[in-house]
Amino acid sequence: MISAIAGEGTAQNRVSTRGFLADVLAGLTAEPKTLSPKYFYDSAGSELFDAICEQEEYYPTCTEISILRTHANDMAKAIGADAMVVEYGAGSMEKIRILLDALVTPVAFVPVDISEAHLIASARDLSRAYPSLAVQQVVADFTKPVQLPAPPRPVSRCVALFFGSTIGNFDPDPTVAILRSIGDTVGPEGGLLIGVDLQKDEDRLVRAYDDAAGITADFNLNLLTRINRELGGDFVLKRFRHLVRYDRDLGRIEMHLESLVDQSVRVAGRAFNFVAGETIHTENSYKYTLASFDDLATRAGFRRDQHWTDGEGLFAELFYTRTP
Ligand code: AVJ
Repeated sequence: MISAIAGEGTAQNRVSTRGFLADVLAGLTAEPKTLSPKYFYDSAGSELFDAICEQEEYYPTCTEISILRTHANDMAKAIGADAMVVEYGAGSMEKIRILLDALVTPVAFVPVDISEAHLIASARDLSRAYPSLAVQQVVADFTKPVQLPAPPRPVSRCVALFFGSTIGNFDPDPTVAILRSIGDTVGPEGGLLIGVDLQKDEDRLVRAYDDAAGITADFNLNLLTRINRELGGDFVLKRFRHLVRYDRDLGRIEMHLESLVDQSVRVAGRAFNFVAGETIHTENSYKYTLASFDDLATRAGFRRDQHWTDGEGLFAELFYTRTP
């Protein structure tokens, strides 16, 4: 019996306050102003994201969960017995349970996430629920190479899981770079099971990122609260609003924070001026077709073996293996 080792995870590329400060100063100096969505996920942001997933308008999470429930056995077959599964952007680890229940004697589960407190709490819960599974969390920024922990017994292969269309946050070239680095991490026999959000009618997309209860707006604005708290900022939240648009040509949802007035904001002793209507671009969420995502995966050295989707074709789970 393998003992659970949650709590003994490793930290790599931890988000430091200094890195956050440097990124924020650079982003607010840029034209147009921009902030990275990776900074959404402090503990309040992670909780707001979980709340977004419960909104009726936000279809990706529940759709992906239903695809996983329906096809978990086929996915487990594609992955094979005695695998090490590495989950990128693990979050609250709800989806992995569906797959773990179907997998044949998985050797280890390695959740990789940037939000340390959230990761450790979730890993502990998961470890309790799967006492014979080694849970070896890694706190890391997965856009950089991740070093995998030593498994407690030999593994047949390594398979990366990348759920939730998190990959949609990245522009095409960085996406190829991330997929290639995942390929390096899982090695020549490795696999990748990745969830991507599919192109669909614009209204449906915009509503998913601008829910009626305003949870996504709070999630977006929380970035300013975080800057105020951690970097000594003086953003007045009422002077900004959550703005969503779909860029059809680029196939991406954009989230922005729009300044409602001409104003000057201070962060870490530096002043940043906004004119009314000017925005801070805080997130892109790319929407794909199977062919357009295959194109990026092929450039990264993967070949698609299988895919699973829902009845409406809202979301897809794609299984790739490395090309020799
Ligand atoms: C976690 C990146 C997949 O793009 O749909 C949800 C984040 N932003 N609502 C997405 C998000 C606003 C989400 N991802």
